[in-house]
Amino acid sequence: MNTDRELKEMNMTLQDFNMNHHWLPFTPNRSFQQDPRVFVAADGMHFTTYDGKQVLDGISSLWCVTAGHNRKPINEAIKKQLDTLDYATAFQASNDQAFKAAEMIAHMAPGDLNKVLFCSSGSEAADTSLKVALAYHRARGEGHRNVFIGRERGYHGVGFGGMSVGGIPANRKVYGTALLPRVDHMRFIHDPVNHAYIHNQEPVWQEDILLELENRILPLHDASNIAAVIVEPVAGSAGWYLPPQGYLKRLREICDKHGILLIFDEVITGFGRMGVNFGADYYGVVPDMLNFAKGVTNGVIPMGGVVCSDRIYNAMMKAHEGSPEHAIEFFHGYTYSGHPVACAAAIAVLTLLKEEKLFERAVHMGTVLGDAMHSGLKGLPNVIGIRSLGLAGAVEMASIPGAPGKRAYDVFMTCFYNGVLVRPAGENIVLCPPFIVEKEHIDRMVNVVADAIRQHA
Ligand SMILES: Cc1ncc(COP(=O)(O)O)c(C=O)c1O
Repeated sequence: MNTDRELKEMNMTLQDFNMNHHWLPFTPNRSFQQDPRVFVAADGMHFTTYDGKQVLDGISSLWCVTAGHNRKPINEAIKKQLDTLDYATAFQASNDQAFKAAEMIAHMAPGDLNKVLFCSSGSEAADTSLKVALAYHRARGEGHRNVFIGRERGYHGVGFGGMSVGGIPANRKVYGTALLPRVDHMRFIHDPVNHAYIHNQEPVWQEDILLELENRILPLHDASNIAAVIVEPVAGSAGWYLPPQGYLKRLREICDKHGILLIFDEVITGFGRMGVNFGADYYGVVPDMLNFAKGVTNGVIPMGGVVCSDRIYNAMMKAHEGSPEHAIEFFHGYTYSGHPVACAAAIAVLTLLKEEKLFERAVHMGTVLGDAMHSGLKGLPNVIGIRSLGLAGAVEMASIPGAPGKRAYDVFMTCFYNGVLVRPAGENIVLCPPFIVEKEHIDRMVNVVADAIRQHA
């Protein structure tokens, strides 16, 4: 925790930093400078801005900071690791922390997901998992399996692979033929008429929306050509859209029937957001690969990864039986794969989450959040849906004709002005606070969002 004096000393003006050189990601850069949102410190549930304002972190800093900001055990582990082994090459050698972190993650992962490939972000995890899928099929003599299936409005980061299987139009539209050529997308999983309001339950659809996959997409490409299907268990970046009851189990069955790998992108749903280790556990479905990032280090140091099944790993090793001992089985990896400091952070974070029983807390506070959102936001002007599950919820508003996304952006800006950081996603405002959140924080978040929605009616 910063002392009052330290915080006062931080109190800056815009002249203290030159904003001419930092091109901000996924941000309207032209307007940012007129109204900059610049953090200089954080502790627990709150940030301090350059001009000394306290802002409540209603989104775990983009789904990352689940244990809250400035957690001593994590900071200490990082400092200790820096003083012990700051960095070591990841190729043809490794470090003790990487083995320990991989073991912890593999133990948390369901089924036979036991082999961890590390990287530094969710985007890299997406591309890594797609490459593993192609390499695996080729190793088994099925190199013709090179079609990927994603889903409309899915988000798998910004690499060319993840962007191609992703389904968010704005992220894709300027990249034309640079996107992977053999990709198709399943339809989206939201029914705005029958399931606009959902709280801690799975929407039950009358219709089987995976018939489209079975009857149209698989025959179109021929199922024998399909390498993998990739989905987020809950569509996070699009705005916390929940799958219909039984959807993921049926997706697993379809993939099994046709020899297609199933990849869960759990960058958001992983490590407790749904009150259990992974979305895979929540829905009782074991994928062939599970992508993670964000919460694994509480966001404090970049890290991502893919947990692969033993079946995939063994097939890749088997394909090299008889090849010389220096032969590399998978030509892939990053300079920072299994970085010792990131791994030390992950070990500390996963230990802390367990010690403080923060997943259990996420379940409890998720109900508090959902209750507060449904009772405080339903019926407000332009609100057309509220979806809550785990420790996350989204309120959806009617789009302003001709100005998609503007209402959510305006609400986000007003909330920030009033001291709460929320996440605009399309026409949604998403709330996904750290697991340490208290009821008073939730009430504040919801009240501030409600006022902003009224203000922009
Ligand atoms: C499901 C999912 N996959 C991948 C990513 C990309 O992660 P990163 O921004 O770390 O590259 C995100 C980021 O929000 C995500 O939500």
